[in-house]
Amino acid sequence: MPSVLIFGGSGKVAKFITASLVKQDYKVYSVIRREDHVPELRELGATPIIQSLEDSTVAELTATIQTSTPDLVIFAAGAGLRGFEDPNLSILVDRDTAIRVFDAMAEANGTKRLITISTIDARNRDKPSPTWYNEEDRKSSDKLWGAVPTYVKAKFEADKDLVEQNSRRRLDYTIIRPTWYGDDEPTGKVKAGFAGFSPKVSRKDVADVFVACIENPATIGCVFEVSGGEVPIHEAVQRVAEDKVNTFGEMYR
Ligand SMILES: NC(=O)c1ccc[n+]([C@@H]2O[C@H](COP(=O)([O-])OP(=O)(O)OC[C@H]3O[C@@H](n4cnc5c(N)ncnc54)[C@H](OP(=O)(O)O)[C@@H]3O)[C@@H](O)[C@H]2O)c1
Repeated sequence: MPSVLIFGGSGKVAKFITASLVKQDYKVYSVIRREDHVPELRELGATPIIQSLEDSTVAELTATIQTSTPDLVIFAAGAGLRGFEDPNLSILVDRDTAIRVFDAMAEANGTKRLITISTIDARNRDKPSPTWYNEEDRKSSDKLWGAVPTYVKAKFEADKDLVEQNSRRRLDYTIIRPTWYGDDEPTGKVKAGFAGFSPKVSRKDVADVFVACIENPATIGCVFEVSGGEVPIHEAVQRVAEDKVNTFGEMYR
């Protein structure tokens, strides 16, 4: 039975991923911070592991990976609203915790496959806007960085660390960078790659992009945006894999 370890398993995207994977007979280990999420995760078919990521050392995270020996790791945690209220938590969870998980995977020396969730526009804002952005994207970028600068910077720094330290860690990573999403009805279709901000995408469709990446090892090394669109998810992800899309080249970091 294939197995997955999800850091941030109680998150909304993570729960959609869990439900899909359990249906496909995956064993899902779900690292969560709060005890009260246990019943819901058990109901979904996951095996919860209580461990607050922001309070865990690399050694403790390494132990979790070594105990569960997953075939694949997903990083889906984020400080979310807690981070918007206290930006230090964005730094702690969205950046530092993510980096500790990357280090723990290298230390565990087991699975190398990692899929992480970042955000659209996580980039060095001192450099020019991405070439594929239009006027509306540039305005959306100003809005995002104006509203939650610490959060976007934290995601950027985690992605940068993952990409730039990979000659040391040697992880098989994929970074998914969705635009804004909400709980709209999923359409089963997205735009993936150099996608830009608009239109927004459904959270469940983002989760299905994860699942499509799990099923498509040719997405290893890809860093790509996801917004609402018209291409069936598997096909959109296959195109990303074939084109080896990397929206986080040197020009943007
Ligand atoms: N919403 C958007 O438009 C958007 C767009 C692009 C990217 N993203 C990113 O996508 C990611 C997932 O989104 P989502 O909608 O699933 O968010 P979510 O529901 O807020 O999930 C984040 C999860 O991380 C967990 N977490 C936080 N701190 C933790 C810790 N110390 N230890 C263990 N778990 C911890 C949270 O658990 P608790 O509930 O216990 O805190 C929560 O379950 C987030 O990183 C978000 O920033 C969001």
